[in-house]
Parts: sequence; structure tokens; C-alpha cells
Amino acid sequence: YLLSSIFSFYLNVKQELSKITMPIAFNEPLSFLQRITEYMEHTYLINRTSSMSDSIERMRAVAAFAVSAVASQWDRTGKPFNPLLGETYELIREDQDFRIVSEQVSHHPPVSAFHAESLAGDFVFHGSIYPKLKFWGKSVEAEPKGTITLELLKHREAYTWSNPNCCVHNVILGKLWIEQYGTVEIVNHSTGDKCVLNFKPCGMFGKELHKVEGYIQDKSKKKLAVIYGKWTECMWSVDPQAYEVHKKSEKKGDNKKQKNGAENDDADDMPEVQETVSVVPGSTLLWRIDSRPAHSSVMYNFTNFAMCLNELEPGMEAILPHTDCRFRPDIRAMENSNMDEASKEKERLEEKQRAARKERAKRDEEWSTRWFQMGTNPYTGSQDWIYTGGYFNRNYQDLPDIY
Ligand SMILES: *[C@@H]1O[C@H](CO)[C@@H](O)[C@H](O)[C@H]1NC(C)=O
Ligand SMILES: *[C@@H]1O[C@H](CO)[C@@H](O)[C@H](O)[C@H]1NC(C)=O
Ligand SMILES: *[C@@H]1O[C@H](CO)[C@@H](O)[C@H](O)[C@H]1NC(C)=O
Repeated sequence: YLLSSIFSFYLNVKQELSKITMPIAFNEPLSFLQRITEYMEHTYLINRTSSMSDSIERMRAVAAFAVSAVASQWDRTGKPFNPLLGETYELIREDQDFRIVSEQVSHHPPVSAFHAESLAGDFVFHGSIYPKLKFWGKSVEAEPKGTITLELLKHREAYTWSNPNCCVHNVILGKLWIEQYGTVEIVNHSTGDKCVLNFKPCGMFGKELHKVEGYIQDKSKKKLAVIYGKWTECMWSVDPQAYEVHKKSEKKGDNKKQKNGAENDDADDMPEVQETVSVVPGSTLLWRIDSRPAHSSVMYNFTNFAMCLNELEPGMEAILPHTDCRFRPDIRAMENSNMDEASKEKERLEEKQRAARKERAKRDEEWSTRWFQMGTNPYTGSQDWIYTGGYFNRNYQDLPDIY
């Protein structure tokens, strides 16, 4: 409750959260650039598509990847650190056949750009994310503006989509919980075929909590496959007719569920209905979430993948650019449970960033990004941050001093 009152002290209704300083106790020891890197946790789903000759099968795998990319949000109510302008992050995972680099390319609005590629040359995956935060009284909503593009190079296919909205409930009072909702449209730009995924809001009775349902359609809008499941659990695919038949029979046997505390004025509690996904006969499993490590609950509910993101293995220090967030002193201090130092360092870094901005304004200088440039996404035709290449040549001269 004390934390909640500190929180409400810092908030004015509908103020944009990115512009105000929040107590570090609400953070998790990761930068938002690292949070983006978690999209790669289930890269094996893309890797599989190289051997798939059927285009619908590929779209199904891409849909599973898009859903799995946001699965790490489950129970992650800690706020990642806002990246500083010019901050970067890289991760190379040879075991999973990818490397990724990201850069904070804009401060107001905060935009993070990333570029990932398969080491075997099978895919590139890139995008820019602008998490637009809104405060709604009891909850904070993050609308992740920005397009994500996946190119399957062997199949000469490109898919684009945007992530669903994410909402953290009960920021002032009650138990924090996370909901993701909205429509995610994955477009196959070779043909205009689509996969439409509906991340369902939990609703009054909580029956739809975490559910995702959608279908793949061709350009004449004919439904080719149904995709369903929960972003916190698993995704399945089945023939549309079998799905309809199953839904009808389910409806008949459905008893009215009890209403649960939705009228509560104090907090919007997470519904307790936590039924598992009911599998329609004939379905194919597309993806299942890995269970979290045993000590996850005392480590900000991190996944195994997230726990490795701050690791500074021997030899890395010498080759990483000094803008890498593994060197951010506030995140490092928080990781070492040194909260006072983390808080002081965070303030110092933010002050340093403000001073640098003033200095640039005085000299009439523009900030220049290092690894990404504003350009046009060839598939959507809209503005996007495009990787200019060369990061892994490891020539890191003239990088800004941001820490
Ligand atoms: C995607 O585009 C390719 C063309 O490269 C086409 O062959 C395929 O049918 C499309 N697949 C789906 C499921 O949208
Ligand atoms: C971790 O998950 C538990 C169980 O749902 C939840 O009570 C807790 O608030 C979560 N912690 C964080 C830091 O998100
Ligand atoms: C990914 O695919 C490549 C070739 O397409 C293969 O060599 C590699 O073993 C795969 N990696 C994983 C982790 O499955």
C-alpha cells in the first residue's frame, strides 16, 4: 500500500507516463531494449519454417511466433528501464541460430529499433517499437505502436504485424496483473493473405482471459485455418469446420458461470476462472510455453531466457560497445539488489541525458543515430527505422558517452 501511494503521488490522471520519473521499486532490472529481445525466445518456430513447403503451414508457424513473442509478458508487472538515447543491446545465440541488435533511436517519443537475423541466412526480423503509455485511473495501458517485419528469405516471403495492447491493472490499489488485447493482423505481402488474431479482453466474467483466437484467410477472405489458444499457455490450429462444430456443442453444454466481484470499486481483480484451453479434436499443436524456473517468482517472474540477458560473459566486456545496456550502472546495481545505488545512478543518468540534450540545443546540433536510419518499410510503405548494417564488424569509434 505504501508503494501504491508513492505511485499515485507521482501520477496525474492521463499524464503520459514516459515523461515522469517513477520510483525504482516499480522496475525490473532490464532495459526495454532487452525486453524487446525477448521476442526471440521462441526463434525455433521461425527456424522450422525453412523446411515447410506448405504456405499455410508457414503462416501458422509465423502466427505462433507472433503470439509466443509476447508470452514473456505474463506476470511481468515490473517496468523495464527506459533506454537512454543512443543505448544499444545485442544478443548472439548460436544455439538458436540468431543474432539481434537494438538501439534507442529517439527519446521523445521513445522509439526502440531492432534488427535480428538468422546466422544460417534463413530470415531477418526487424522493427521499431514506440510504447505509448496511458494512465486510466486504475490501470496503465501500453500501446506498442510500430510495425514488426519478418522476412523468410528462402521462401521470399515477408510478413508484417503489430503487437497487441498490454494493460497493467491495479497500479494504485490491489494486486497487479497483466492483460493483452486487440487485433493483430499478420499480412503475407506476397499475396495479401492474412492471419487475423484476436487477443481477447478478459471481459466481465473472465472467461476469455488470455485467450487468442483467429484464422488464416486467403485474398478472397476464405478461411483456411483456425488458430486458437492462450498467449500464456499454448496455441493450436484446426480446420475451420471442425472448430465451428466444436464451438456449437460447447455452447449447448455451457452453464451460466457465476459473476465474480466485477462491481468492486477498489480494484479490478484478475478473474479467478483459469480454465485451460479446450482442445478441438483434430488440432495441431503450434507452440507451448516453457515453464518458468523455480526461482522465477523472486526474480521478477523472469523466464530462463530473460535471466540471461544481463550476463556479461568473460571476454564480452572487451568487444561490446560501451553503449550496451549490460554496462548501465543503474540496472546493474538493481540486479545486485543495491536499490539505493540503482536509484541514485538512474537519476544521474537521466540528468546526464538532459544536460547533453541542452548542450546539443545550444549548439544547434541534431542527434544522429548510429545503427538505424529512418526510412520506408518496403512492405507497408510507412516510415520505419531501418538497420544500416555493420554493427557486428565491431568498429565502435566515436560512440556517445551516455553512462
Ligand atoms: C504467402 O505468399 C506466398 C507467395 O510468396 C504464397 O505462395 C502463399 O500462398 C502465401 N501464403 C499464405 C498462407 O498467406
Ligand atoms: C509475479 O507473479 C506473481 C504470481 O502471479 C504475482 O503475484 C507477482 O506480483 C508477480 N511479480 C512481478 C514482479 O511481476
Ligand atoms: C535452424 O535451421 C538451420 C538451417 O536451416 C539449421 O542448420 C539449424 O540447426 C536450425 N537451428 C535450430 C536451433 O533449430
